Amino acid sequence: MADDMANLFRRLTAGVYVIGVAHGDLRNAFTASSVMQVSFSPLLVALCINPEHASYPILSSGRAFSINVLRADQQALAEHFGTQSGRTVDKLSSTSWRAGLTGAPLLQDALAYFDCQVISEAEAGDHRLMLGRVVDGAVLDANGQPLLYSATGNLDHSAELYAKAFCEPR
Ligand SMILES: Cc1cc2nc3c(=O)[nH]c(=O)nc-3n(C[C@H](O)[C@H](O)[C@H](O)COP(=O)(O)O)c2cc1C
Repeated sequence: MADDMANLFRRLTAGVYVIGVAHGDLRNAFTASSVMQVSFSPLLVALCINPEHASYPILSSGRAFSINVLRADQQALAEHFGTQSGRTVDKLSSTSWRAGLTGAPLLQDALAYFDCQVISEAEAGDHRLMLGRVVDGAVLDANGQPLLYSATGNLDHSAELYAKAFCEPR
């Protein structure tokens, strides 16, 4: 059932992004697929983060994040930032990046980036929903094709995380 649930949810079309976070001199980045546009005016985006990630306290206190859009040929970057923690590895040390307007790291080799200030945070099940106002952004590779979450298989080991059954309707 868990694999069926994973197959179902991977039909929700999503890209793959490296989320950069910063607070003072602290910086980190992690891979995320739970990212979406929320509003046109003002320009708002949202992402979901597991509060057990090393990135979470930096994001929650620094109140800034970048969204680095990965290209279809950058699955290795998705794996680099998404399968090890900043608690044990300085993931940014092997990648070219610069600080954006908010201080959040922007990867030089991404397809595009968004630089965002957190305007609210809400509990959302086992994740936190972070709402951000977009203060900067650019397309870096106009011809690049985005990496799709469905193409990453079970790279995030999420198949075993799904509930065994749907909730009963109220
Ligand atoms: C393809 C992929 C998608 C992921 N999507 C998310 C996500 O949307 N939200 C999240 O909190 N973690 C997500 N993860 C897991 C984190 O990237 C991973 O746990 C990471 O090691 C956390 O790094 P940190 O401890 O340095 O913050 C994803 C991982 C992969 C490989």
